[in-house]
Amino acid sequence: MGNQGTPPAGDNQGRQRPDLMTKLVLPVAVAVVGAIAVAALTPAGASLRELLFPTEADVSGSAVIDGQPAASAQLTLNGEDAGTTNDQGAFLLEGVGDGTHTLLLETPGADGDTTFSVQKGTTEMSLEPITLSPIVALGFSMPIRVQVGGLAYELTLWIDGDQAVMNRILTVTYRLPAPLSGSVDGGTRAQKFCYEVAGELGLSDANVGGASASADVHLRDGQSFRVSAEQPGQDAPPACTNVGPAPPAPTPTPAAPTPTPTQSPVPSPSPGPSPSPAPTPSPAPSPSPAPSPSPQPQPTELVPDVVGQTFEAAKARLQSRGFAVNRRDVESEGAAGIVVVQDPGANEIAAPGSTVTLSVSKGMTVDGATVYTSTGCGSCHTFSAAGSTGTVGPNLDTSTKTTPAVEAQVRNGSGAMPAYADELSDEEIAAVAAYVVQNRTG
Ligand code: HEC
Repeated sequence: MGNQGTPPAGDNQGRQRPDLMTKLVLPVAVAVVGAIAVAALTPAGASLRELLFPTEADVSGSAVIDGQPAASAQLTLNGEDAGTTNDQGAFLLEGVGDGTHTLLLETPGADGDTTFSVQKGTTEMSLEPITLSPIVALGFSMPIRVQVGGLAYELTLWIDGDQAVMNRILTVTYRLPAPLSGSVDGGTRAQKFCYEVAGELGLSDANVGGASASADVHLRDGQSFRVSAEQPGQDAPPACTNVGPAPPAPTPTPAAPTPTPTQSPVPSPSPGPSPSPAPTPSPAPSPSPAPSPSPQPQPTELVPDVVGQTFEAAKARLQSRGFAVNRRDVESEGAAGIVVVQDPGANEIAAPGSTVTLSVSKGMTVDGATVYTSTGCGSCHTFSAAGSTGTVGPNLDTSTKTTPAVEAQVRNGSGAMPAYADELSDEEIAAVAAYVVQNRTG
């Protein structure tokens, strides 16, 4: 375009304006209009369209564990927190951009992940159900052998798995497999969450089927989950160290790390690999599989569950079973005089005559003086025992109200005094009232 020369100074302004117009404004306007046209009309405009209107897809899906919905599973999308599944195990990820994404799902006891791609321009898509696999597993073994007059079993239940999860476990409650029933507390951490018990069954129990066990695993952070096992496992259990003095020594292998129970007609109706000597209800101890018809007097005893009982009742129960009792008083939120912890735990095996230590709650120890100070009663009340000199409310040294009346005053308030029913517990209200009544100077 012309204009390269050196124009006369006076001409400058008038000649540059149309120049600016053609050089800058017009091309920009053309470019914008053109871009919109390209974006709207041509496939080549896809990336520009993406720039102007980025893909935001709603991605829905669901998670299952063991065929059940995995509720409250934590979702992590490309490393970022993306909420949790709902009660039905379903989730919705909103505004997911195009490209490939990794979704991680975690519950306290299981996890899983998936990778999915969102095409440009997608607004909605749903994923296949995602199956989470357990990261902690339950195992059990239950060899049963024939002995005089019945069957003897040794049950071992254990959980094992991801060390990070194992480290977070507080307690485990096992539900015993058939033909046994009921549930028991498993070991503590030091005991590898293992539970062992031996006992006797009637012959007819041998045919009770459906041996399956489950366990509720409680984590330190208050979460819990359930694991289950349909059949006794073949693998050897981890060393169970919570056994009292030698298990009921059924076979000549007490100390060895159990070369897995062989002769074990497991009470399951499954037409299993039959060569096992299934003890049918023929009370003849003869056929042969019995190692020796000598049911030794067993030097072990199951410790009864006494948690929740008064110390006196617990002590009587334990003594009647031949145990000695040791008492420890502990601070606890439980009612005073109630057993809150027992050691050894319920259903653990202990030597007869051994000592069971009971931790007995001292009850809540709420200190009235502390409640008075921390609640700020002193900012409104004069009370010499607490050294407070407030003057908004009456002088509590000269108050003549009874303890119940003071409790009511604190609970409900009146006039300029606030009600504390929501802020203080019943124990705290009782404690501060007693403190005020007992310490006033008159
Ligand atoms: C915001 C100021 C304020 C605070 C805080 C307060 N009070 Fe009061 N309190 C009062 C007032 C005002 C009255 C008189 C109410 C009325 O006459 O209805 C009163 C009345 C009382 C009475 C009745 C006295 C009598 O003999 O009539 C007692 C007892 C009492 N308060 C105890 C407490 C305790 C214990 C606390 C702490 C938990 C507390 N107050 C916290 C202001 C307060």
